[in-house]
Amino acid sequence: MKSEIYEVEQGHYHLTDYDQVCADFDWSEVEKAFSWHTTGRVNMAYECIDRHVDLGKGDKVALYYKDKDHNEKYTFSDMKVNSNKAANVLKKAADVKKGDRVFIFMPRSPELYFVLLGALKIGAIVGPLFEAFMEKAVKDRLENSEASVIITTNSLVDRIPVDELPHLKHIFIVDEDVSADHIDFNALYQEADETFDIEWLEREDGLILHYTSGSTGQPKGVLHVQNAMIQHYISGHYVLDLKEDDIYWCTADPGWVTGTSYGIFAPWLNGATNVIAGGRFSPEGWYQILEDFKVTIWYSAPTAFRMLMGAGDEMIKNYDLSHLRHILSVGEPLNPEVIKWGYKVFGKRIHDTWWMTETGAHMIVNFPSMPIKSGSMGKPLPGVKAAIVDNEGNILPPNRMGNLAMKKGWPSMMRTIWNNEAKYESYFLPSGWYISGDSAYMDEDGYFWFQGRVDDVIMTAGERVGPFEVESKLVEHPAVAEAGVIGKPDPIRGEIIKAFIALREGYEPSDALKEEIRVFVKNGLAAHAAPREIEFKDKLPKTRSGKIMRRVLKAWELDLPTGDLSTMED
Ligand code: WT7
Repeated sequence: MKSEIYEVEQGHYHLTDYDQVCADFDWSEVEKAFSWHTTGRVNMAYECIDRHVDLGKGDKVALYYKDKDHNEKYTFSDMKVNSNKAANVLKKAADVKKGDRVFIFMPRSPELYFVLLGALKIGAIVGPLFEAFMEKAVKDRLENSEASVIITTNSLVDRIPVDELPHLKHIFIVDEDVSADHIDFNALYQEADETFDIEWLEREDGLILHYTSGSTGQPKGVLHVQNAMIQHYISGHYVLDLKEDDIYWCTADPGWVTGTSYGIFAPWLNGATNVIAGGRFSPEGWYQILEDFKVTIWYSAPTAFRMLMGAGDEMIKNYDLSHLRHILSVGEPLNPEVIKWGYKVFGKRIHDTWWMTETGAHMIVNFPSMPIKSGSMGKPLPGVKAAIVDNEGNILPPNRMGNLAMKKGWPSMMRTIWNNEAKYESYFLPSGWYISGDSAYMDEDGYFWFQGRVDDVIMTAGERVGPFEVESKLVEHPAVAEAGVIGKPDPIRGEIIKAFIALREGYEPSDALKEEIRVFVKNGLAAHAAPREIEFKDKLPKTRSGKIMRRVLKAWELDLPTGDLSTMED
């Protein structure tokens, strides 16, 4: 679909004049939001929780938690007490110290948040593991990080190969009926003291380890430090537009960076009320949450929006979603089609945001106070210097495709790849550009346009084709639920375009349908962009953050090994 420009929606937003804010921007001014600017005592958990209690906001709801077994709320004071108790348990029973890696491997629950904040209060580096990880993925991460403590459940503990993990000393179980090999978390928790002396840290001390997979090799442990809070806070303020009265829901699991940077840190640094929903995705369940909690700001992902779109608009009329004032998306390209749909059903434009595990926080975004060019990721966060550069680091002029890059030095930048400094160094050019691995261009108005991962760009008969463009077109066809596009080596054209397609409910695969879809892209996009080959699949391989894993499609196609699949959804 052609890009359209949408003017700024009515509303009062924190960032009203992008150019002016960028011109005056100074990271060291942002730090003044935190108590450590005057005390010099740094701790993320303090800034997220205890600070608000100290400022007299202890009675405000910090967390609404809902799943099939819970429907609970906790104030900032409750969160303070509960995280103190968790910190006391970890310190007493496992002697956790500053810098130790403490892993959390459990389904979402209020306890997960108490434990994570508690571990941070001791100065530990937390490692959240997604509950769907199987043994190999769990082992790789615990081994690489040399974690000494893990907090988990009876249903997941069998996936931890203790005998092969010499550094792992303590396994806490948060359920009832804990075996003698493990530590009964709740028993200790009941008795635990409600006060705790927070471990004060340096801004460059470790905060969190998130593992992410590259196109080859083992998952990489991306280390973020306390200093990241500066950017979590200001992006929550300017991009999420969090205000005192907002009820905010981020749908991501804390096993992934979106679920921590924007599911924990940004909302609580801004003192907002955070909604966390456990359990699985269902369209009705999600609309119910938006209605029940009167959610005002909603952060999700294109795959989820497309699934909601696929479920039909009729059911939406059964819910009161009138409280929504701002909707955002991350993780993969946001198709113009989806933005159009969002406006139709919610009366709001979905705002795309671009960033990565490695960047720790928003980098290129659509501010609520800026016109949206649909299909564009937006403009850099104030204080972030982004550009399109060639492989030598030369800045390319507008409208030229190249490496999406940022100048090193934003506050939430990863500080190392755990136990792999060489890998870390390999992200940067000598001139100080961080090379994201995405290709993009910037238009004459300074908007950035995603084209694909660098290695995904297709060259067919001398024409460059971004797979996203083709996928976006494909999903506009009424029969297509999801599409993944790869370049398939071809002796004549270099590569041809091959599309893998999952059909919507009610459509059957057929050669006639393939031809119809091909013609649809040919007519709607460009002849050279039309897939010469189409294959129907029941489901496409995707990461947990919702990206179609083109490298897996490519491996299937070429009969190659698929590489690390630990981030693939089940
Ligand atoms: C990669 C990072 C941190 C967010 C969750 C994913 C892709 C991310 C967008 C966007 C197009 C996007 C990029 C990036 N990506 N946001 N708005 N439009 N692509 O984090 O797993 O570290 O993946 O996700 O390719 O490099 P991640």
